[in-house]
Amino acid sequence: MLIIAIDGPAGSGKSSTAKALAKRLKLPYIDTGAMYRVVTLKAMQDGIPFTDKKRLMKIARKSRIEFRTAYRTASRGERDAVRQLVYLDSQDVTEAIRTPELTKNVFHIAQEPLIRREMVKKQRVMGLKQGGVMEGRDIGTVVFPDAPFKFYFDAQPKLRALRRYRELRAAGEQVTQAKVLRDILKRDRTDLTRKNSPLKPAKDAVVLDTSSLTIDQTVDRIIAHIGAKPLRDRRLGTE
Ligand code: DC
Repeated sequence: MLIIAIDGPAGSGKSSTAKALAKRLKLPYIDTGAMYRVVTLKAMQDGIPFTDKKRLMKIARKSRIEFRTAYRTASRGERDAVRQLVYLDSQDVTEAIRTPELTKNVFHIAQEPLIRREMVKKQRVMGLKQGGVMEGRDIGTVVFPDAPFKFYFDAQPKLRALRRYRELRAAGEQVTQAKVLRDILKRDRTDLTRKNSPLKPAKDAVVLDTSSLTIDQTVDRIIAHIGAKPLRDRRLGTE
């Protein structure tokens, strides 16, 4: 099973790169952050306090989280321009999991060890089905420590904030660049210092500073690296 693990902080370019890479390699794209977001959404919808670990855990176990692919039909009638949709119990929650309020709360869910264990279990099932480009914070360290390809992205905080700012503005959010930078630095702190599965590069990860790279350049670097590895090392469990 071919697993490509991409970890790194918010705004480091993981998502855009992972999507583009998955498309080029015709592999599934698995966004593990979306899974923590889905559990957060369900907790908020059901009015469960973030201190009620028992009920939160129940949600994590019972929620059916799915990724589906939307195809748009291009002018010549061909199917292309792929978009990934996120489903919770057969409901499209793609937009609902990206609100600033939810983003502020997701750390409550991501720091719970039992919820993490449940998410990791689901992520392994997804990955082992068809392989994939899997992005998150702990893919190379916890979810697939034997993945043959591991990348850890980083970029200067100001630049990461600028990327996020542009995305939010494009989505119609009224934010300032200074506020986005503050939020990014706060999320870095929670991701890097949490007790359970903190964000860190796996010992054998290739560290990429994406500050001055475009998405295409980053994808090219990864493909060049993958191509340079001997064939026998390429799949999980074949080393
Ligand atoms: O990548 P993102 O912003 O969608 O991630 C949402 C949250 O989930 C963020 O607080 C980090 C956390 N996360 C995690 O702890 N482990 C993962 N594998 C992916 C995301």
